[in-house]
Amino acid sequence: MIVVRDLTDLRDRLGDWRAQGLTIGLVPTMGALHAGHLSLIDILRKRTDRVVVSIFLNPKQFDSDADLERYPRDLDSDVAQLAGQGTDLVYAPSAEEMYPQGFATTVSVAGLTDSLEGAHRQGHFIGVATVVAKLLIQCQPDAALFGEKDYQQLAVLSRLVADLDLPVEIVPGPIVREADGLALSSRNAYLSAEERQIAPKLYETLIDLAARAEAGEALAGLEAEGAATLLAAGFDHVDYLEFRDADSLEPVATLNQPTRLLAVARLGETRLLDNLPVG
Ligand code: PAJ
Repeated sequence: MIVVRDLTDLRDRLGDWRAQGLTIGLVPTMGALHAGHLSLIDILRKRTDRVVVSIFLNPKQFDSDADLERYPRDLDSDVAQLAGQGTDLVYAPSAEEMYPQGFATTVSVAGLTDSLEGAHRQGHFIGVATVVAKLLIQCQPDAALFGEKDYQQLAVLSRLVADLDLPVEIVPGPIVREADGLALSSRNAYLSAEERQIAPKLYETLIDLAARAEAGEALAGLEAEGAATLLAAGFDHVDYLEFRDADSLEPVATLNQPTRLLAVARLGETRLLDNLPVG
């Protein structure tokens, strides 16, 4: 496995592979890798000849300095995890490499970013879209993998790639969970023992709501009840819990189209994201 820190080296390596006619897959990450990230690599290995994992803790997508400061980072341990996992190249640029002095361009996807995470994290999706556009242009992969764990992010990036005619296939990866249902996340490390006990209730509640929606119960009632259930279970706040159109992410009143149930609930300062297909 090769580790490169700058764009010139990256282009050299990828250029060699392309000259040999090899296809290239990219898994963008912010590090603090867990089994969810590794599952994306497994999926991509089956589709492309070479797998590149980028590790870049992107400051532009954090809406609070405190959140960025406490985000777990350990490049050596990430690289050790990736070695032997089917990764061919790790691209770990510095912030100066990604955003040199004078950097002034932003990429913004309208509409899809207005609500849900976009409404709760100011500027978040501009940061995500800008860095992912750069990574896709830098690596020019044939396929790039993004987890359904961040369902809105996947929708936003699919839109970006279509709108900018980037010649890359966006492949979704299913959510990897702990045995008790909690979706794996780098931020789960922040949970206290007590919060960790409460955390799986999020998935449990979503499963229950999705089943009842499929059985014909009114969606608006289920949304309100779901939020109340989470608060009663010990969550400190429910940022949102909503049934949305699976493609446009517009609100839905009935289950007449592919639908996704998306939620964020907070335990202390930690925001837990989860979502499920419905119908
Ligand atoms: P990060 O949070 O590191 O996640 C990297 C990728 O792993 C994302 O596509 C995310 O959806 C996926 N992922 C996270 N947890 C997962 C789980 N439990 N199961 C399956 N996939 C999971 O998302 C980002 O980084 C950044 O926004 C990024 C796209 C890298 C841009 O900076």
